[in-house]
Amino acid sequence: MRIEIKNIRKEFKTIRRTVSVLKDINFEIKDGEFFVLLGPSGCGKSTLLNIIAGLENPTGGKLVFDDKVVASGNKNECAPVKERNVAMVFQTYALYPHLSVYENIAFPLRIAKMDKSEIDKQVRKSAEMLRITNHINSKPSELSGGERQRVAIARAIVRKPRALLFDEPLSNLDAQLRTATRIELKKLQRELGITTVYVTHDQVEAMTLGDRVAVLKDGYVQQIDSAINLYEKPVNKFVAGFIGFPNMNLFDIEVLKEREKFYIQFEKDRFYFDPITVEIGTKYCMGIRPSDIEVTDDNENVLKGKIDSIELLGKEVLLYVSSNNMEFSIFTPKKDFKENQEINFRFDQTKIHFFKK
Ligand SMILES: Nc1ncnc2c1ncn2[C@@H]1O[C@H](COP(=O)(O)OP(=O)(O)OP(=O)(O)O)[C@@H](O)[C@H]1O
Ligand SMILES: [Mg+2]
Repeated sequence: MRIEIKNIRKEFKTIRRTVSVLKDINFEIKDGEFFVLLGPSGCGKSTLLNIIAGLENPTGGKLVFDDKVVASGNKNECAPVKERNVAMVFQTYALYPHLSVYENIAFPLRIAKMDKSEIDKQVRKSAEMLRITNHINSKPSELSGGERQRVAIARAIVRKPRALLFDEPLSNLDAQLRTATRIELKKLQRELGITTVYVTHDQVEAMTLGDRVAVLKDGYVQQIDSAINLYEKPVNKFVAGFIGFPNMNLFDIEVLKEREKFYIQFEKDRFYFDPITVEIGTKYCMGIRPSDIEVTDDNENVLKGKIDSIELLGKEVLLYVSSNNMEFSIFTPKKDFKENQEINFRFDQTKIHFFKK
């Protein structure tokens, strides 16, 4: 199913004031796509997902499933929520504690009054897919967090919804289990081919799961793109800083020119570079990823700095370096670096991002 979000706005009226949570959201999710909503806490991800699910109504705009308007700021245009046939999985699993795993999964089918033998077939098939068949007679309280979340996912897929909606489903799991479940979830979605909208504040999850990712902040979409494009071509400072680990270095700078050569003047050092699309005398925020900075023995066209601290990350180290009255982080192959060591470093010219102020 195709999902279209057209000029969606959402305001909450509280006793004292009106909060505008979603300001003007527009995008389209393709049929069968794994689409991720990513953003910091409070940016409106859950609110948008709840609107798609029918748990909230938009204040303005339209929500379209295939070619049918299912929700709208104009109440007369809304279709009944139960016709949407979408299934949601929550962070807290939301299983019925008094029902067995089997009955939890069967629940939406019983509501739909499916006949008994067909229910049995579908429940077993879903349980099989999520590898929880041997827990089918247990109560949720007898399961681990990871197993409970599988039950919740089995319950979501059992009635073959037109869309699967996930709100931070892996947040309660430990790191290892989260990675394992993430990989399985991606596989499952591919097998089922069901349009999926997945909310997370974890950029790694977003980047590994999403065919496309929408980055949200303050009620606005900042960028919608594939993981690789978000990483390589962030459209603004926010996306640049939010995506990628270790975080991108971001500085306010000005591009200057001397005898046909472009340079950035830092407090003491000057870095010459071949510009692609920058304007002289314009104030920019410059972005450079820690892995795009090279530590070098050269003395020309380098910045001089001092290592403040070192974090060992396997074969690489993350250096925190003070230089020109600024802090740089540099991700580089491990060598015998020491704290307080003086080093020279330079930027990979092709990897510098310039964001207009
Ligand atoms: N029913 C409500 N009444 C008033 N304000 C609300 C209501 N629901 C959400 N909000 C506000 O809307 C904003 C967005 O909430 P939302 O739950 O969508 O954020 P989120 O991006 O899912 O955050 P998190 O990552 O913490 O789950 C928050 O500032 C929240 O306080
Ligand atoms: Mg949320």
